[in-house]
Amino acid sequence: MTLIPPVSPHAESTAAVGSVIVERFSAWFGSTPALHNVSVALRPRSVTALVGPSGSGKSTLLRAINRLNDTSADARHSGRILIDGHNVYDHGVDVSTLRQRVGMVFQRSNPFPRSIFDNVAYGPTLNAGLSPTALADTVEASLRRAALWDDVKDRMGDDARTLSAGQQQRLCIARALANAPSVLLLDEPTSALDPQGTQRIEELLYELQQELTILIVTHNLHQAARLSRRTALLIDGVLVEEGATDQLFTRPLDSRTEAFITGRFG
Ligand SMILES: Nc1ncnc2c1ncn2[C@@H]1O[C@H](COP(=O)(O)OP(=O)(O)O)[C@@H](O)[C@H]1O
Ligand SMILES: [Mg+2]
Repeated sequence: MTLIPPVSPHAESTAAVGSVIVERFSAWFGSTPALHNVSVALRPRSVTALVGPSGSGKSTLLRAINRLNDTSADARHSGRILIDGHNVYDHGVDVSTLRQRVGMVFQRSNPFPRSIFDNVAYGPTLNAGLSPTALADTVEASLRRAALWDDVKDRMGDDARTLSAGQQQRLCIARALANAPSVLLLDEPTSALDPQGTQRIEELLYELQQELTILIVTHNLHQAARLSRRTALLIDGVLVEEGATDQLFTRPLDSRTEAFITGRFG
């Protein structure tokens, strides 16, 4: 007997927005292999954690999704990465549009040396035709979504680099959100933050997953366990295991996963 799930009344609005499917994806820098035949599907509206030892290809996988590896002259790849069904490597894909839809946040916050307002307004300003009022509304809404508005609403003209490290990281998230992304990639976003700053980012990501597909690289397995519904483990460019986070941490299927989570690996 085939079980057919009931059709949700919201099925249409929740379908496939921000679906990311990595299909038999391999990557090299010159002759150095970085990813080997990685296949994984990221669940929309949920946080997936990407863990693994240093040099295992985590950043390369993130950067493959919004084509940041293209900036390395000797980068090559095979396989496909589908976002909402479209291969990001197809001819004719506009990379700057892709990078607006797929936001990225790095380990070191990297605000532009400009005002708080200008940092968040940067992306929307590139899309011509926004009135000053609409632009200000977008900036405010993005800062609110990044849980930063109350901290900065009275100092929007200040240089962004005067913010604390945690605030700067939330500013970078607000800057990405201003482009209305459907996917958010974060590469060790809290590893330079104190526990309080870390907690605020985790709370924020927990909220944002209601609207976005989130993939976060973390070295902190407790963070992965707290935050993510699914976890993927990369070792030496190979996706060793991907599964429900609680299952992967308590009943791993692969002996390499067990070795990694018990600290005998990496
Ligand atoms: N731009 C690059 N040029 C050459 N080799 C690179 C480049 N980026 C990454 N690599 C290599 O690819 C492998 C995976 O690196 P990376 O994705 O940064 O790992 P991780 O983020 O898991 O620490 C490593 O061997 C690294 O040295
Ligand atoms: Mg990395």
